[in-house]
Formats: sequence, structure tokens, C-alpha cells
Amino acid sequence: MKSQPRLNRERAKELLAEVDLLVSRAQQPAALRKSVVQLLNMEPTYNWVGLYLLKGGELRLDSWKGPAPTTHTSIPLGKGICGFAAKSGRTEIVSDVSKDPRYLQCFASTRSEITVPITHEGKVVAEIDIDGDVSNAHSSVDREFLEALAAKISKFCI
Ligand code: SME
Repeated sequence: MKSQPRLNRERAKELLAEVDLLVSRAQQPAALRKSVVQLLNMEPTYNWVGLYLLKGGELRLDSWKGPAPTTHTSIPLGKGICGFAAKSGRTEIVSDVSKDPRYLQCFASTRSEITVPITHEGKVVAEIDIDGDVSNAHSSVDREFLEALAAKISKFCI
């Protein structure tokens, strides 16, 4: 795999402006979630993007975009990197998934992962999960960007 350009602050700002536009035009919450997932998957280091909703104590895959479907369409709270982040309410950045015992494998190509809880009125309601095909694909720029994005779309995830 060739090296992939990581997200920079300038691009993050542009993407947040695009999200604002999507939000201002949003009619159906599910359609908004799908559009955001599609937008994110266009970034070079966002090779697989999924949005999970927290329902009945587990994460349920709502919308996704990437080369292949995942078998992890429901993940209990506390399981995997996704379940861990949803339980703690804190973003997880894993620079090398092969070294993280929590990791639930979906794709052989995945090397790194970022998982960002989406909260509404102080409670986790959903989560964005992004797999990268190179190790160390995501940084604090991605964290800040995705956390800002999560705040913008949280009301569409309840
Ligand atoms: N790797 C995740 C599971 C979801 S897939 O990446 C789509 C985890 O460890 O929770």
C-alpha cells in the first residue's frame, strides 16, 4: 500500500463546511447519516466508514461505505474497539490494530482505526468507526475533526 496523505486542518475545515451544508438541507435523519458516511469515505485514509447507532445496549450498523460489508453489524457495549469507545464515551485512535487485543477484525487490509462516540444530551447514542489501510493513518487532527462532526450530526442519530 502506497503512503496516503493524512487529513490536514485545512481539509478538515472544508469538510466541516460540507457537513454544515448537508445538515442545513437535511430532511430525513437516515439520509443525512448516509450522506455523511459517503462524504467521509472519500478521504484517502478513511478506507471503510461505518455509523453505528446504540440501540438496546449494543451498537447496530446503520450506514456504511467501503470496499466490502462487515460481519460486525452488531457489537455489544464493551466489545472491540467500537464497544470500548461507546462504553467510555471517548474517542479511540489505534495506530496498529495488530497490537490491540480489543480489536475485532473485519477486513484483512485494515492496519489502523479511529472510533468516535456521538453523544446527545450527555449520552452516547451512536458512533463513527473508520478503518485505515495504512498504520498510523489517523491523528489528533482526525480526532478533533470527527468530534466536531459528531456534535453537528448528533441530533440525527437519536
Ligand atoms: N474493528 C472494530 C469492529 C468494527 S469493523 O472495523 C467495521 C472493533 O474492533 O470494534
